Amino acid sequence: MLLPKQLVLILVGFSCLSVGLGDHFILVHGLGHGAWCWYKIIPLLKSAGHNVTAIDLAASGSDPRSILEIHTFAQYNEPLTNLMASIPNNETVILVGHSLGGMNIAFAMEQFKDKISVAVFLNALLPDTVHTPDYVMEQQIALGYGPASYLDTVFIPYPDPQENNTAFRFGPLFLKTYFYNESPVEDYTLATILVRAGNPFTADLAKQPKFTDGGFGSVARVYITCTEDRAEPPPFQFYMINNTGVNQVFQIVGADHMAMLSKPQQLYNYLLNVSATFN
Ligand SMILES: *[C@@H]1O[C@H](CO)[C@@H](O)[C@H](O)[C@H]1NC(C)=O
Ligand SMILES: *[C@@H]1O[C@H](CO)[C@@H](O)[C@H](O)[C@H]1NC(C)=O
Ligand SMILES: *[C@@H]1O[C@H](CO)[C@@H](O)[C@H](O)[C@H]1NC(C)=O
Ligand SMILES: *[C@@H]1O[C@H](CO)[C@@H](O)[C@H](O)[C@H]1NC(C)=O
Ligand SMILES: *[C@@H]1O[C@H](CO)[C@@H](O)[C@H](O)[C@H]1NC(C)=O
Repeated sequence: MLLPKQLVLILVGFSCLSVGLGDHFILVHGLGHGAWCWYKIIPLLKSAGHNVTAIDLAASGSDPRSILEIHTFAQYNEPLTNLMASIPNNETVILVGHSLGGMNIAFAMEQFKDKISVAVFLNALLPDTVHTPDYVMEQQIALGYGPASYLDTVFIPYPDPQENNTAFRFGPLFLKTYFYNESPVEDYTLATILVRAGNPFTADLAKQPKFTDGGFGSVARVYITCTEDRAEPPPFQFYMINNTGVNQVFQIVGADHMAMLSKPQQLYNYLLNVSATFN
């Protein structure tokens, strides 16, 4: 027989779940990665009562397709677009984009602004509404920020030369040097096994319309910058933050590009703050 106090606690706990007092986080990985890279963050957010969906973009994680079957950024982003379309109109989600994933969530913001309470850019590309979407990628190169060398990265041309497109897979030395420099060796090892070939589709992004102030620009934005990120180093991140403007900036000291693996607890704390602040 339950004591009244225990019964009340169970009912309160149950109602939190059933009426959805928690937020719904959608976690979007970067190039070559997959839903797997969020494995430390998913149980933390769920333990706090949130719904969490970590997606595999096209040809990523356990998606069966090869990147050579994916020809445009829109195709690459289709799993996120489909998920956003399936969210009921009366519900909102918190989008979290990592690295190239910032570009994926920017397109979702443009198309589904009313379904997004806030978008979190974690060591991510943050585009603007003044230039075409590829602009920040071009600026990273033009300003000399980021990896000085591709090291052992493998380049994979698309079979049709007319397409003039190239995918690439980060090599183990590249991953260690620029992505996993502060991450546990186990997570780095996992990455050397699981990272797949990807494509930023820069040429395709250069042909896309600009994001708009009424779409992408109207959604609340948070940036999380990490002091040890060598892939998109802090000066480049602050360049984009200044270029576009955000509502809030958080910094994780000691995290590398893979903050979800190198400093998961600190990232979790900031995501809880975002959940409490933006509704
Ligand atoms: C979590 O989100 C997914 C995807 O929108 C949805 O199918 C599921 O019902 C949600 N779960 C809860 C507990 O709200
Ligand atoms: C959204 O609307 C559906 C259908 O009317 C309802 O079942 C659901 O509880 C609503 N969700 C929220 C968060 O209000
Ligand atoms: C092929 O693509 C590269 C990179 O986008 C571009 O610089 C080059 O001009 C293209 N070449 C042709 C023949 O279209
Ligand atoms: C911030 O942006 C403004 C306007 O584009 C520019 O004038 C300024 O130099 C930028 N500051 C930094 C620190 O990049
Ligand atoms: C979230 O972080 C900001 C900046 O550190 C702080 O001012 C605010 O009080 C925090 N909010 C919550 C709910 O913890």
